[in-house]
Amino acid sequence: MASPPDELQQLQEEAERTLARANTAGEVEMVRIKYLGRKGPLAAILKSLSALDPALRPQVGQAANTFKTALETAITKRQAAVRTVPQAPMIDLTLPGTPQPVGRAHPITRVLAELTQLFMHLGFRVVEGPEVEQEYYNFDALNIPSHHPSRDNFETFYLDLPPPRRHGRWLLRSHTSPVQIRAMQHYPPPLAIIVPGQVFRPDAVDASHACVFHQLEGLLVDRAVTFADLKGTLELFIREFFGPTTRSRFRPHYFPFTEPSAEVDVACHRCHGKGCSVCGRKGWLEILGCGLVHPNVFRAVGYDPRRWSGFAFGLGIERMIMLKYGVDDIRSFFENDRRFLEQL
Ligand code: PHE
Repeated sequence: MASPPDELQQLQEEAERTLARANTAGEVEMVRIKYLGRKGPLAAILKSLSALDPALRPQVGQAANTFKTALETAITKRQAAVRTVPQAPMIDLTLPGTPQPVGRAHPITRVLAELTQLFMHLGFRVVEGPEVEQEYYNFDALNIPSHHPSRDNFETFYLDLPPPRRHGRWLLRSHTSPVQIRAMQHYPPPLAIIVPGQVFRPDAVDASHACVFHQLEGLLVDRAVTFADLKGTLELFIREFFGPTTRSRFRPHYFPFTEPSAEVDVACHRCHGKGCSVCGRKGWLEILGCGLVHPNVFRAVGYDPRRWSGFAFGLGIERMIMLKYGVDDIRSFFENDRRFLEQL
């Protein structure tokens, strides 16, 4: 059997090997408890000293002390070393995750999609046109005379660009109607299109005016189209969009590019026609302009007005959303306040 000093020598080597494999403060502490603890081999040796031959005691006692000091030093060193090793972070896979905010389409985009869907079911196809337009498409071809007030600098954004070779000055389109002209120049009749898009007017911005807003234009050209076709189409769309019991009315109006022309009102969502502050005591709110295509517009695109007839309408998207959802300030649509946008 090995004598205590030899035994301690072996223990020392074993303890140092274990210590070298200890990689955390906890593991180092386990080594300390195992070899230097109350139930460890050192304690056992010290306890047995009294039973030992007195001549051997100092030698064994000294060896035990050496073992203890050497191991304590090694443990302190290892403890310092494992503390500086960065520990892999503990990941608790059972914790709930951090939710990521998920975006969604802007209310204008969603309502435009809803409306285009609705008209596509009726057989209209979607076309688009440029936002930077020429006077000819925005005005002349639409039978808007050169003295018309809508051509004024205060009504239209003109661009400071060298003018195109023909077709007047460059401007930001003030309505989506120029796309009627572009579509009819491009496609032969019959034709049924809708045109979603942005339009621009230098209006002072307030609760009901913005200098950029959205319109949905509609144009249908066929043989023997009547005002009844226009009315039926628009009434269907109003019931679909605002609800089956919504009341609407056609009011005679004037547009240079339609004849006859009308504006369509829907009963105020707040007072249901009685008159309140939302509708300016009228009980009705205007949502769109419309009419039968003026023969001069057909002439401008080379359609024969004796063979072809049609209707057109243009509605303001922000207006429609404001009416349907009771939004009282048009500026809410482009201030990007999520508290507003998430409600719609
Ligand atoms: N373009 C007209 C506007 O912006 C609306 C309209 C379109 C009227 C088509 C009649 C026909 O006010």
